[in-house]
Amino acid sequence: MSKIYISPSILSADFANLERDIKLVENNGADWIHIDVMDGHFVPNITIGIPVVKSIKQVTKLPLDVHLMIENPEKYIEDFANAGADIITFHYEAVAQSHSELDSESIKNIIKQIKSFGVKAGLSIKPKTSPEVLYPYLKDLDLVLVMTVEPGFGGQKFMEDCAEKIPQIKSNAPENLIIQVDGGINDVTGKICTLNGANSLVAGNYIYKSDDIKKAIDSLR
Ligand code: DX5
Ligand code: ZN
Repeated sequence: MSKIYISPSILSADFANLERDIKLVENNGADWIHIDVMDGHFVPNITIGIPVVKSIKQVTKLPLDVHLMIENPEKYIEDFANAGADIITFHYEAVAQSHSELDSESIKNIIKQIKSFGVKAGLSIKPKTSPEVLYPYLKDLDLVLVMTVEPGFGGQKFMEDCAEKIPQIKSNAPENLIIQVDGGINDVTGKICTLNGANSLVAGNYIYKSDDIKKAIDSLR
């Protein structure tokens, strides 16, 4: 069985005790740290930005899995790479607004831009976006993120339909593509996703609101 990468979302951590809460998941078996960047435009919420990523890099050895829920991601890739991101995932919908040849060029260029910094490149789709839009980019990507809630907030309910996208993407993807899911993931919904072929699970509330962090992380594998 292939490895499942567990990426706790610090959106559910205590921001006044971020170092403590990062160590808590690092010492209990997390593989990556998931950092949700929101700009108040692409999604209605505003969270954290480049200086915070830079500070997080100082306190953990784990790879930083940066999920950009922002418009114009190309403007900020270099800054996030320099701040220490190891994976940068951007949204298809943030770039492809006219569904034209031009959008497709832009997406390819952003993937190249991310990789030029030695960072792994991810592309994400929201629940209402069809998985087919990802197919032209799969061979260039390191990761695909299938959102299982509308992006913007932690603690929402898992949308089971979204898990059906995973096998469709997998059957069109190179063997080594990482398929990640994010939103409403717990031991039960995580299992639905891994059975469908996901090999990376993001979880915020399930991990951080648990009384036993190790048990919660272990139960996702
Ligand atoms: C939502 C974020 C998620 C969020 C997940 O827009 O992308 O990463 O933190 O939180 P839970 O696991 O609580 O649904
Ligand atoms: Zn996320």
